[in-house]
Amino acid sequence: MAIKLPIENDILPIPSANEALKEVLRTRRSVKILDFDSTHGPNFDELHDILALANRVPDHGKIAPWRFIILQDEARQELGAKMADILKAKTHNMDENHYEMEKRRFLRAHSVVIMISSPNIHHPKVPVWEQELACGGLGFNITLAANAFGYIATWLSEWPMFDDDIKSLLKLYANERIAGFFYIGKTNKNPIERERKSVDNLIQVWK
Ligand SMILES: Cc1cc2nc3c(=O)[nH]c(=O)nc-3n(C[C@H](O)[C@H](O)[C@H](O)COP(=O)(O)O)c2cc1C
Repeated sequence: MAIKLPIENDILPIPSANEALKEVLRTRRSVKILDFDSTHGPNFDELHDILALANRVPDHGKIAPWRFIILQDEARQELGAKMADILKAKTHNMDENHYEMEKRRFLRAHSVVIMISSPNIHHPKVPVWEQELACGGLGFNITLAANAFGYIATWLSEWPMFDDDIKSLLKLYANERIAGFFYIGKTNKNPIERERKSVDNLIQVWK
């Protein structure tokens, strides 16, 4: 690992105004999966550092109720083929093009991280809801950390996230759920801003 993380009890900086960070937050966007250049992306060590940075999120009870499965190189093809077979087995008359597309699912990006939500369902203090919220924060942090390394990242669920056979294939435990597939890589296309609800319509000042 190239990046040196703080260790427990290290003294950390007090945040000061950070124009560069503001600009990142002002202009960041996910990239459409079809706009990925799947030939370029982080090597394993960079991906490890991306996850090491992303992993530093608020987490009530210091549980880290999550884990990661990394797909790079041939593993993308191999897992995609197994998932395509699972879908084919339960899809009546699955179109051959659809089957081929499913096999290539993970080849759409250079690297894919599967984020597994792994809550402690018997925790004496921290409800599962809070543990899942922390995992959501981690998800967004994966996209930001990838950006910090000069890569794009897009969080997708799609059908495999909700399929029990995929859960078995990935050997998830009963308490676990797939929380997202993070496609990480490069693009040659500038993202275009999407429609967003104005925060003015979302804020209520309590009186
Ligand atoms: C949990 C989660 C699951 C998502 N799953 C999908 C999906 O399956 N398909 C899709 O087109 N977008 C999905 N999205 C949305 C994409 O990530 C989308 O491109 C993103 O919301 C764009 O917003 P941004 O540019 O502000 O990042 C998902 C988002 C989240 C948070």
